[in-house]
Amino acid sequence: MATKTNPKKTASTAQRTAEVKPNLQQYEHETQKYGEIVKMPNGLSERSCKESVALLNQCLADTITLRDMYKKHHWQVVGATFNQLHLMYDQHFLAQVELVDIIAERIQLLGGIAIAMAADVAEMTKIPRPPRGREPAAVQIKRLAEAHEQIIIATREAADKADEVGDPGTNDVLVSNVLRTNELQVWFLTEHLVAASPVKA
Ligand SMILES: [Fe+2]
Repeated sequence: MATKTNPKKTASTAQRTAEVKPNLQQYEHETQKYGEIVKMPNGLSERSCKESVALLNQCLADTITLRDMYKKHHWQVVGATFNQLHLMYDQHFLAQVELVDIIAERIQLLGGIAIAMAADVAEMTKIPRPPRGREPAAVQIKRLAEAHEQIIIATREAADKADEVGDPGTNDVLVSNVLRTNELQVWFLTEHLVAASPVKA
């Protein structure tokens, strides 16, 4: 009886490694354009998803900017309150990191595309760009507090609009996650700027 040889056992080294060698010659193309909605089985109309995604992407761009402003200030802070502010900035940064993921994943589950890269965020955000250089701690806090208030105002408006389009899940993310985190953090910050505080510019 003729025996059958497994071709994989007799393959040359080149043939074998071809099976596991990464192929980087890939045809580059987008499977979904930014702004397009893929209909998901979530019981929401495409129009509702599109409106919620637009609201969430603005919130995401502003939240990424605030997140990064916290790290900038964490690194650049100086003064008698260095340790306290250095640690608080990082706590707030980590909470903003969580928010970024919650917002981005909400956008994706609605069938949208989350804004992600720094250059795109820079084009979209409404938070004013801080200077590259170092600023006094009091100015850092003022700048962060103004960014928080801008996000708080925009988030309340966006939450109302999400309700209007019949998307309570997005309303909940905006209120329970984004709004309440920002309200808490702006309180922690601004208590450093009272008259009795050593933090002054
Ligand atoms: Fe650090």
